[in-house]
Amino acid sequence: MKIKSIILAAGEGKRMKSQMPKVLHKICGQTMLNYVIDAANSLNVEECIVVIGHKGEEVKKTLPSKVKSVVQEAQLGTGHAVMMAYEHIDQEGVVIVLCGDGPLITKNTLRELMNFHKNGQYSATVLTTDLDNPTGYGRIVRAGSQLKKIVEEKDSSFEEKAIKEINSGIYCFDSKDLKKALPLIKNTNAQKEYYLTDILEIIKEFGEKIGVYKTKEYNDIMAVNSRVQLSEVEMVMRKRINLMHMENGVTIIDPANTYIEKEVKIGQDTIIHPGVILRGSTVIGKECIIEHNSKITDSEVANQVTIENSTIIESTIDTHSSIGPYAYLRPNSRIGKNVKIGDFVEIKNSIIGDYSKASHLSYIGDAEIGKNVNIGCGVVLVNYDGKEKHKSIIEDNAFIGSNSNLIAPIVIRRNAYVACGSTITREVPEETLAVARSRQMNKEGWVKRKGLQIKEDK
Ligand code: UD1
Ligand code: CA
Repeated sequence: MKIKSIILAAGEGKRMKSQMPKVLHKICGQTMLNYVIDAANSLNVEECIVVIGHKGEEVKKTLPSKVKSVVQEAQLGTGHAVMMAYEHIDQEGVVIVLCGDGPLITKNTLRELMNFHKNGQYSATVLTTDLDNPTGYGRIVRAGSQLKKIVEEKDSSFEEKAIKEINSGIYCFDSKDLKKALPLIKNTNAQKEYYLTDILEIIKEFGEKIGVYKTKEYNDIMAVNSRVQLSEVEMVMRKRINLMHMENGVTIIDPANTYIEKEVKIGQDTIIHPGVILRGSTVIGKECIIEHNSKITDSEVANQVTIENSTIIESTIDTHSSIGPYAYLRPNSRIGKNVKIGDFVEIKNSIIGDYSKASHLSYIGDAEIGKNVNIGCGVVLVNYDGKEKHKSIIEDNAFIGSNSNLIAPIVIRRNAYVACGSTITREVPEETLAVARSRQMNKEGWVKRKGLQIKEDK
């Protein structure tokens, strides 16, 4: 059977109080609209059409290339929005209508809706659920077990407001009847809008059967109209993502305090501690320990890596390395195997070779550091001269003493040593010790000569 989907995403979303179109607000790292597109595509639809309007160009830029868009210039209601896709609706097959502000809809629930629609030989089927607090949603008014009509909150009577069964805004239509009924929708209601909900009564008047498929998965149909609902939907999505990782063999100590975005991948037997944020395209390997309060964005972490209380952006870390606590890896840091990056170390656009260490309080920017190098406490690679950034090269087995400044561009050759407290401005050859600090001078008896008070031991 031919399936097409139409996703309504032209509205402004006034209740969000935002400059950004509602459907572009993100939950767990992905726009709401893209979740809905994913759900539609999971049904192998032949065509996915998104109705755009308010700030439509902005919305269009975020659409996957295979998705078509049609424009609704003025937002005259959900029925009017579907009308904009009129020429894409065929004489056969079915059309699934979805809302761009309902990102929690799943493949399973859509499949069930489709099967119900098909098995009951309905001409139109609406997806509904019971909500304890139905405020804001359209209510399903039944006559016996049959649908009588859908009434919007603003048009509803006192009795109708008490109805707990609500309209999800998701429907399955026989294409032919949808096409026939669309032009007959009127805007005689409180909001002077062309309501898609009215189409069910119109199709019924054709003498066709209308189905109501009530799901128990009430989370699936939660819609976002306000920031409060955005946070509620985010919470549900977060739970789903965390659950999926736990089912795949990841330990999450406190799922309620763990924030993992949609695209993130995590290997088996990795342990995620509370307060961890994993974002974007981050991939974490197997048997890693990601300790509390680490935030990792668009980065690749290999197996058996430990990260504690650190921020990592657009970087890679190879196996058996340990990062933090309190390290800051800025974009394009490439950390090798068995490396130790300790507390208060900042790295940017640098390569750190296998078995190297920067255990405390260093800045490493624009550097190429070889294998088994030791960067002492407080070392600064001085990469910026006020105008340009310069590169530092530190070859294998070099030892950089504490509190040294290496003024880039600079090369420290293999097996060289830099004495602590040095300010290095020239290349240090292989197996050489560079000392670049003033010699110590001891002035004996100076304190007495100056007439300063000599302190007695207490
Ligand atoms: C709609 C339904 C309501 C249902 C609820 C489910 C109608 C009349 N009401 O109400 O019964 O319970 O969804 O969440 O259909 N849109 C357009 N063009 C427009 C108007 C809206 O594309 O002219 C889009 C919006 O961008 C949004 C979706 O349609 O993605 C729903 O619109 P919204 O204004 O949020 O409808 P609700 O009042 O929530
Ligand atoms: Ca809505």
